[in-house]
Amino acid sequence: MISVLPPHCHTEITPSAMNEQISNDFERLVKAAVLKILRETTTPCPNMDIDLNPSNLGTREHWEETYSTELQNYEESNGVDVGEIWFGFESERRITNWITRKGLAKNTAIVDIGCGNGSMLLNLHKLGFTNLFGIDFCQPAVDLASKVAEDKGATSVHYIVADITATEETHKECPDLFHRTFDICIDKGTYDAICLSPENSKEKRLSYVQNLRKILVRNGFFIITSCNWTKDELVAQFKGLDLMDELPTPTMQFGGRAGRTVTALVFKTGTS
Ligand SMILES: C[S@@+](CC[C@H](N)C(=O)[O-])C[C@H]1O[C@@H](n2cnc3c(N)ncnc32)[C@H](O)[C@@H]1O
Repeated sequence: MISVLPPHCHTEITPSAMNEQISNDFERLVKAAVLKILRETTTPCPNMDIDLNPSNLGTREHWEETYSTELQNYEESNGVDVGEIWFGFESERRITNWITRKGLAKNTAIVDIGCGNGSMLLNLHKLGFTNLFGIDFCQPAVDLASKVAEDKGATSVHYIVADITATEETHKECPDLFHRTFDICIDKGTYDAICLSPENSKEKRLSYVQNLRKILVRNGFFIITSCNWTKDELVAQFKGLDLMDELPTPTMQFGGRAGRTVTALVFKTGTS
């Protein structure tokens, strides 16, 4: 099974180490895309039992280290280098385009789950949305996102530390997330990362789905971008949500089969 996310560009490494890392990451990314395409075109009955190979991308330590470096880079570059935008600007654009096309009210409550540097929400802020919320389980990511938002004058965007896989017993420790609801939940690469967790990944995935259903209003939207899961696998894993749209993403050919390198889906909460 596959276990990759796209390359990082902002770690402190020498040019030759960087070339090596880029070529390793590129190789892993191509392998992941090929495997995803093969599964997309052959798996007859996708289900929750598929496991990805665990990786450090599924650990809190990895993200704390990554965003501590990104925060430092941001400060040292005087606010120029905001760090990695996962799946690139295009992935943000396809989400903002979808939201814009829906013609939703500007006070629509939107949460970005695993917001990283908060770039996704700043795009929505630029479009005039006023009820924006970013959560991440990694303190340095929240620090970076808050700092970038402050520097860009987007002080109405709220960021908090919260773990989307928290169990019900611990929800009261994070009332700002679990005691409120949102019209739209966005996930870009976070569910992917959680699925790579070396510990209890299946339980964490289940908690994620339960928590998502708790914080999303009836007739709310869940917009997910994943490089590890196919459309059918995501549909099987987010049972209880109705698939509404598949957003156009780049395709790749392998062995005469064509498939998407990244999957971007919009789900709607069922009316039942
Ligand atoms: C691949 S990065 C994506 C960051 C951002 N969404 C983007 O598109 O640039 C995954 C993010 O999910 C966060 N994350 C991972 N597991 C999480 C969890 N259980 N709860 C909240 N955030 C989590 C990480 O700290 C990291 O910021």
